[in-house]
Amino acid sequence: MRPRTILYTGKGGVGKTSIAACTARSCAAAGLRTLVISTDPAHSLSDSLEVGFSSDPRPAGENLWGQEVNAQEELEVHWSGVQDWLGELFLERGLDRVSAEELTVPPGMDELFSLLRLQAVHDSGDWDVIVVDCAPTGETLRLLSFPDVARWWIEKVFPLERQILAAARPIARSLLDIPLPDAAVFADVQRLSENLIAMNEILRDRERSTIRLVMNPDKMVIGEAMRTFTYLNLYGYLTDAVIVNRIFPTTVGDYFAGWRRVQAEHLELVRSAFAPVPVLCAPYFEQEVIGAGMLDRLADAVFGAGGHEPSAVLHDALTQKLSVSEDGARLRLALPFARKGDISLKKIGLELIVGVDGQKRTIMLPSALAAFKPTAATFEDGALEVAFDGVRRDRSS
Ligand SMILES: Nc1ncnc2c1ncn2[C@@H]1O[C@H](COP(=O)(O)OP(=O)(O)OP(=O)(O)O)[C@@H](O)[C@H]1O
Ligand SMILES: [Mg+2]
Repeated sequence: MRPRTILYTGKGGVGKTSIAACTARSCAAAGLRTLVISTDPAHSLSDSLEVGFSSDPRPAGENLWGQEVNAQEELEVHWSGVQDWLGELFLERGLDRVSAEELTVPPGMDELFSLLRLQAVHDSGDWDVIVVDCAPTGETLRLLSFPDVARWWIEKVFPLERQILAAARPIARSLLDIPLPDAAVFADVQRLSENLIAMNEILRDRERSTIRLVMNPDKMVIGEAMRTFTYLNLYGYLTDAVIVNRIFPTTVGDYFAGWRRVQAEHLELVRSAFAPVPVLCAPYFEQEVIGAGMLDRLADAVFGAGGHEPSAVLHDALTQKLSVSEDGARLRLALPFARKGDISLKKIGLELIVGVDGQKRTIMLPSALAAFKPTAATFEDGALEVAFDGVRRDRSS
């Protein structure tokens, strides 16, 4: 049986680690063999669960294990051939060894390699549930969405390039002053591409793998989560819940009354932007969320209050679908609760505000649609379809 895989992502400091840890504790308490794994290069899972984790799974309670992937180790496993080659290249360009080595760690790649570790964990057969504490933002998840590119390289470029390089190496060596990549480099890139494809298959398995977006009721945080949500939908990754953490409870009193009002408005925005994905909430506690007791209080608030099973797939459909053609685009948006009624559309920058039946939805469009204008909207079978007219590029320029 393939494990249930839940990935938590969101902006820095919103509570990803705390929510991932409390989800894992709840799953374990329900009798599921659970691994909580951190791929964020800045780990804080050990602090949250008060257990010293390492790069191998360590026990953290009954049915519960934790693991903090060591990005450097993964990098060496997956990328050492490329690293050596780049190092040599830089060295020949007059950079000294130390700065050459620093340069060979591609920025943003450390989390990618850590995430690839998930594949091994997934295939091990050891777990019922894997909870992943990801690095801030969904950038890395976007990197994982290029399997088609990877597949193309594997099928088309690698066989050819190897042959050409084998023939050209002796000549190139004497004519050019750069070292050509050797078989080890190709082996690395090929393995990486294969891993990307495998990871993509794991993440797109919408019966078993879902992503949950963690946010605070702050405007900027919500904006970023909305963008991530759009990309996840477009790449076919299922978001099955949105978690709004650190909401001021009524007991905070007058001093925070203004904050509470603004938070209530932002919660409305969250509901309108992510519907029909369930929105789960957690209060701002009177102390830090560290250790088993506080984590269980957090889990009670997030899942217990609404009667949600933490390991369940809480929502099972993609909510947006975008198809872009030569001179236009179509966005399909699930609005299961709307009846056919008046539809209004307004686009401000990259925000599309859709009104149906007096309800408002705000959708963050991908930047590729910046120059597109909404032209028509139809509502059928619980879904709204918006047509956009693209601005044709002048081909001569
Ligand atoms: N609901 C809450 N009430 C009070 N404190 C909280 C709450 N949720 C999280 N915290 C505290 O906020 C801090 C940040 O939380 P956490 O580490 O879970 O966020 P994160 O999104 O993983 O951050 P990073 O992006 O740095 O990894 C921690 O000290 C945590 O104990
Ligand atoms: Mg964290």
